[in-house]
Amino acid sequence: MGIPNLKGRDLLSLADLTPTEMTDLLTVAQALKQGELRPTCASVLGLLFYKASTRTRVSFSVAMYQLGGQVIDLNPKVTQVGRGEPIIDTARVLDRYLDILAIRTFAQADLETFANYAEIPVINALTDLEHPCQILADLLTIQEEFDTLQGLTLTYLGDGNNVAHSLLLGCAMAGMHINVATPADYAPDPAVVQQAQSLALPGTKIQILTDAEAAVAGAHVLYTDVWASMGQEDLAAARIPIFAPYQINEALMAQADPGAIALHCLPAHRGEEISEGVMEGPQSRIWDQAENRMHAQKALMACLLGAV
Ligand code: CP
Ligand code: NVA
Repeated sequence: MGIPNLKGRDLLSLADLTPTEMTDLLTVAQALKQGELRPTCASVLGLLFYKASTRTRVSFSVAMYQLGGQVIDLNPKVTQVGRGEPIIDTARVLDRYLDILAIRTFAQADLETFANYAEIPVINALTDLEHPCQILADLLTIQEEFDTLQGLTLTYLGDGNNVAHSLLLGCAMAGMHINVATPADYAPDPAVVQQAQSLALPGTKIQILTDAEAAVAGAHVLYTDVWASMGQEDLAAARIPIFAPYQINEALMAQADPGAIALHCLPAHRGEEISEGVMEGPQSRIWDQAENRMHAQKALMACLLGAV
């Protein structure tokens, strides 16, 4: 088994990994899930989350407990960061106490500042730009289903947001074709699309589209996310009619590959970006996907801490 040497590094973007490191990390995650590897580390993880979270918070915590470590919740409401203590000061102090830090925040630049001022590994637990840990779990789920990643097609429908960005990078690095279909004004950041193109394994196709039906034809994975992300709550109602043609429902699933699966990073809005029938239907792998957050992040932390 290839174990990626990530000791002491940060994961701020999926592009911080090479394609080989990423696929090796997925192999470690699978081995952890199967109980074939049982690393231990008595490390302390800090969770500094400026936005709400169920899955990321709990899966990181349980993963660290299972590794033998401990977790401190650094809720900005009860720490000095919420009262405006500068990031560069907070980062240098936390660095002296913690072994590893996962941050969920708005600006990627703030995450980068934390990482620049802390020696310990810093993990992106979601920013407005990216959600790399989510995509590690997604790729693990797809690999479990199809026994491979290379050559499959994933179609993402909806908002060209943080999840879409990390999917573009992750699929390209895994050799998966990716179609992203969004309303015209909601396409992913062209700089991220270009970055994905530059990282893509040979023969990997990246298509940015507005036509949902064209995007799903023959796809092996249909994926969606909320139409209004955290921080965009005021825009949610106005977006519903704009995004309606991009809903993953039974009719759209029927146009994908017959063996296609449906994924959603959650939380979901049934009847908006995904229908109740698909969410609860036989093609959904959404609950396995949520479980895999824990295995993927356990593998990531074990590698960043040099415990495997
Ligand atoms: N998918 C995801 O990151 O979920 P949470 O916001 O609940 O952490
Ligand atoms: N795009 C969503 C993902 C939530 C896990 C958000 O940023 O709110």
